[in-house]
Amino acid sequence: MGEVMAMIGSVAGGVALALGCALAHASADDPGRSLYSAYCSDCHYERVHQRVREASAVKNLADLRAVVERRAGYTKHAFTAEEIEQVTRYLNREYYKLPEARPGR
Ligand code: HEC
Repeated sequence: MGEVMAMIGSVAGGVALALGCALAHASADDPGRSLYSAYCSDCHYERVHQRVREASAVKNLADLRAVVERRAGYTKHAFTAEEIEQVTRYLNREYYKLPEARPGR
């Protein structure tokens, strides 16, 4: 019985690992995108992010992160720092295309 449980445990671990890798690489299943559509789209469509740069409150990646952080406080979800980062990256990748400060990302 112990052996069977150990086997089930390692199979489940393998599946979780594979799933984690798949999520990390798939941009279609972007956690930032899911968070945005779950919590941020009550007030605005994503069209608000397609403004010309001069009209936008966002001039660089630090601005974008600051806005996301502030907006996150308006939602009913308690965003973690990691989730803020995921949403920031998602919006940047999809809309703002600001240069990322950190190299290699
Ligand atoms: C309570 C309503 C509300 C919620 C919820 C909300 N926003 Fe907003 N958001 C606004 C308003 C209002 C503006 C300003 C629109 C304007 O300037 O005309 C805005 C603007 C923005 C901008 C700046 C757009 C630009 O380029 O000028 C970003 C980025 C943004 N929101 C991200 C988010 C994110 C990410 C979330 C979820 C964490 C979110 N918002 C949730 C109301 C909201």
